[in-house]
Amino acid sequence: PRNVVVTGSGSGIGSALTVLLRARGDRVIGVDLRGGEVDADLSTPDGRAAAAAAASEAAGGVVDAVVTCAGTSVPGTAMVTVNYFGTTGFVTALRPALAAAPRPRAVVIGSISGTRPTDPDVVAACLADDEDKALAHAGRAVADGRARQLYPSSKAALAQWARRIAVAEGWADAGIPVNVVAPGIVLTPMSAGLFDDPEMKKVMDTAVPMPLNGYLQPEDVARAVLFLASDDNTHITGQVLYVDGGAETTLRGPED
Ligand code: NAI
Repeated sequence: PRNVVVTGSGSGIGSALTVLLRARGDRVIGVDLRGGEVDADLSTPDGRAAAAAAASEAAGGVVDAVVTCAGTSVPGTAMVTVNYFGTTGFVTALRPALAAAPRPRAVVIGSISGTRPTDPDVVAACLADDEDKALAHAGRAVADGRARQLYPSSKAALAQWARRIAVAEGWADAGIPVNVVAPGIVLTPMSAGLFDDPEMKKVMDTAVPMPLNGYLQPEDVARAVLFLASDDNTHITGQVLYVDGGAETTLRGPED
């Protein structure tokens, strides 16, 4: 069986994906704060390094695919340390184990929110791989009451990082496609609280209009990931696939 490492495997999209992968016959090595094959905190450099080492070891040094679903929407600096660095640091650390596989694949979960206005200082520091600087800017954003902007910033930076490494840092030459799946609103524990407040629901529906089939179930996202992480994906790399019921097209218009 293929060894697939899934972060955030204990809830929402990661949990749904784990079920589908196992049904397909893959071996899933789940990474989460608790309850996975590997328990780890991806918010710190040490946590990421330990998680990647343990996941790689559990896979016998050969990781056929990695999918990063771990993330947080709690306003604060963890949006940067988990959503961005918790993905980039972890995926980068797994590169040798991916390169050892015959047909490796990498998929990261972004977000439609990555198309929203972002904090340019945070995005730039993330893309420069300068975690201290990113945290300093993020801390200022929190202090200035702009904490909510850190979520779209983390996801915008993540999509740019994935597109960059896909071709410019040799991942394509190493035979490793790297893609982003960017969901609209998904009904998971992360989004559950949002809909308790009817005013908030109205704000969300305006910010993320989903004319095709409404809100997503986690499985709807997981099925798109399943393809990009499979052997069938031979040539798609550096792409952001919006799984969003038409939100991105509605918001940005049909050009490009
Ligand atoms: P969720 O909250 O159900 O699951 C997230 C998982 O990440 C949890 O199991 C949690 O324990 C894990 N996690 C959080 N911090 C961690 C850390 N420091 N170290 C290790 N694991 C950690 O969320 P959901 O909705 O399944 O989200 C999955 C991904 O999809 C996230 O990246 C999220 O930003 C993204 N997303 C979610 C959307 C939604 O509407 N639910 C919309 C667009 C993107």
